[in-house]
Amino acid sequence: MNNFENICLDDLDSEQAEKELKRLAELILRHDKLYHGDDNPEISDAEYDLLRKRNELIEVKFPLLIRSDSPSKSVGATPGSGFRKISHKKPMLSLDNAFNDDDVHDFAARIKRFLNLNEIDSIDLLAEPKIDGLSASLRYENGIFVQGLTRGDGKMGEDITQNLKTIDQIPKTLHGSGWPDIVEVRGEVYMAKQDFYDLNERQLGADKPPFANPRNAAAGSLRQLDSDITKARTLKFFAYSWGDISHPLGRSQDEVIKNFQKWGFTTNDMILVSNDVDEIIAHYQLIAQKRASLSYDIDGVVYKVNRLDYQERLGMVARAPRWAIAHKFPAERAQTILNDVDFQVGRTGAITPVARLEPITVGGVVVSNATLHNADEIERLGISIGDDVIIQRAGDVIPQIVKVANSNPNNKKVIFPDKCPSCGSHLVREEDEVVWRCSGGLICPAQRVERLRHFVSRNAFDIDGLGKKQIEYFFNQGMINSPADIFKLQEFDNARALTSLKNCEGWGDLSVRNLWAAIEERRIIAMDRFLFSLGIRHLGQQNARLMCLNYLTIENFLNKLEQAQDQQSDAYINLLAIDGVGEKVAASIIDFFAEPQNLQVVKDLLNQVSVDEFIPPMTDNSNIAGKIIVFTGKLEKLSRQEAKASAEALGAKVSSSISAKTDILVAGPGAGSKLKKANDLAIKILSEEEWLQLQ
Ligand code: IVH
Repeated sequence: MNNFENICLDDLDSEQAEKELKRLAELILRHDKLYHGDDNPEISDAEYDLLRKRNELIEVKFPLLIRSDSPSKSVGATPGSGFRKISHKKPMLSLDNAFNDDDVHDFAARIKRFLNLNEIDSIDLLAEPKIDGLSASLRYENGIFVQGLTRGDGKMGEDITQNLKTIDQIPKTLHGSGWPDIVEVRGEVYMAKQDFYDLNERQLGADKPPFANPRNAAAGSLRQLDSDITKARTLKFFAYSWGDISHPLGRSQDEVIKNFQKWGFTTNDMILVSNDVDEIIAHYQLIAQKRASLSYDIDGVVYKVNRLDYQERLGMVARAPRWAIAHKFPAERAQTILNDVDFQVGRTGAITPVARLEPITVGGVVVSNATLHNADEIERLGISIGDDVIIQRAGDVIPQIVKVANSNPNNKKVIFPDKCPSCGSHLVREEDEVVWRCSGGLICPAQRVERLRHFVSRNAFDIDGLGKKQIEYFFNQGMINSPADIFKLQEFDNARALTSLKNCEGWGDLSVRNLWAAIEERRIIAMDRFLFSLGIRHLGQQNARLMCLNYLTIENFLNKLEQAQDQQSDAYINLLAIDGVGEKVAASIIDFFAEPQNLQVVKDLLNQVSVDEFIPPMTDNSNIAGKIIVFTGKLEKLSRQEAKASAEALGAKVSSSISAKTDILVAGPGAGSKLKKANDLAIKILSEEEWLQLQ
């Protein structure tokens, strides 16, 4: 028999594996052709992904059998998005920013506090330039470059292996020795300034539009479906980080950098390690002075805690590590003319004035819009239409207007409206808030569109192919009013026959099919995404996760939230007891679900999608998963913040008060009323030492 598709991977011997790899290579090639060439796929994307996954797993098990025509070596482009999406084994993080010296001192102090070090203890930081390019993750198996991904959204990247292979500074096989069997080297792909100028000259010569800056040129070159084009553009690579590894790469950041060099990578030559924050800042200033004369663009300096065991303990918050920060260079400024001001209505009704500017290049990017933040800012600037204004742009931050340079008394002053520009409802401003909001709620079309946009956005339902334009189109056509309608779109569209979407301008048969498929893929959704998608004020990604950790299922959550409307109820007390949930957050969530219209929106949606039960991380091997923990008194080894972060990482819920439901009280010296109450309630009490052993 020559058919091994049903054989479990563990049972494959090497002879069978060889035949199975051949079968998969041929099969995947056939489906690639059907998909791309003939636009006539025979299997679903999910089935296709399974074939690729099986191929990949067999290759990991039998690396010597990897074929020269293996599908894992092909780009695997999909027409909609360009490249095949692949999930990162370890997320690719972003960095928090520091804008001045104080922020850097705060960063160092914060780290010491978290690690429970004393003010006078020293901690080594590594400083290196922040390269203005695109990050990439390069996977090496047994020293061979097998896969290269873009950062994407940090969780899923795009497979650009073939294009990365054209970059000379990316070794195709690792040099030297000592590298682990599996190592993902991460760093920045960039275009040197001179190569950028040369490329733009060629572009102009060929009557093609020039690139705005080296970063855009590098991005455009990496995202070519034809890797010959990438090859013709000179790209470079600096290694500075790593992802999945089968063995530690060193004990410190600088030791890893030295290893990267031995293995054939280029690393930056302006790296400094020091335990003196002032020295680190002096290095920043030195790099800033050299900036203009460097052969490549940089937009700041990155500081990283050097010791890797410290990095491990510090972990991450949201999408950035606690152990690193980017010290940005000051913003670049330019002068232009204010042509007009629009007042935009956000998803929570917040009115944001947006300046429309005479386009101007600032730091290599054409700017034609800037934020004016809020009514107070307009007043502070005393700005009129037609004024000459100074604008500034810092990194990826939205450009801002700093001040008026010249005004003419005849210019018309910008006046903040007193009614919503979308629905005419009156505007309200809460105490202590600077933001004016439309009071129209769900009757305001602008708010509804923005909520729908938020609903499908990356960290919420993440529906490919449903961007601003499409949402506005469907909304204006009356096809979607609330999130549930998105899941009824296809049915609705089928019923329209002649006016169906695929016959409309701008929509092809394939793009419509892709959209339906993208929507169907989200009928099962993670609980934190579901909660975040509802766009409730103060229920961001982090708080959504806290809700999951504490309520586990959406049914339980809705049930408890209903009970929590009564402030005397246990449900309310338990909600407030969640460490991180204060009265403001609790009120916002309760109010949302107390509003019948909102509840209807959620119920309609739940008729269309099912929400996965939340599985606390590491449930299997942690004996504190699901437990409710309270910390009190002074901890000696851990800071309170680290104790809380590590408990949550193990799936425990950290509460700020003792109740009958508390499982463990970790009490340090000086513990008072909480210790007494825990004793009264016969709750398990641990010392810090015992708590550490439990993990
Ligand atoms: S470290 C876990 N080091 O900056 C931290 N990032 O704003 C990983 N970047 O996505 C990043 N130069 O693309 C690091 N020397 C450097 C960098 C650097 C540029 C980019 C990287 C990252 C972005 C975050």
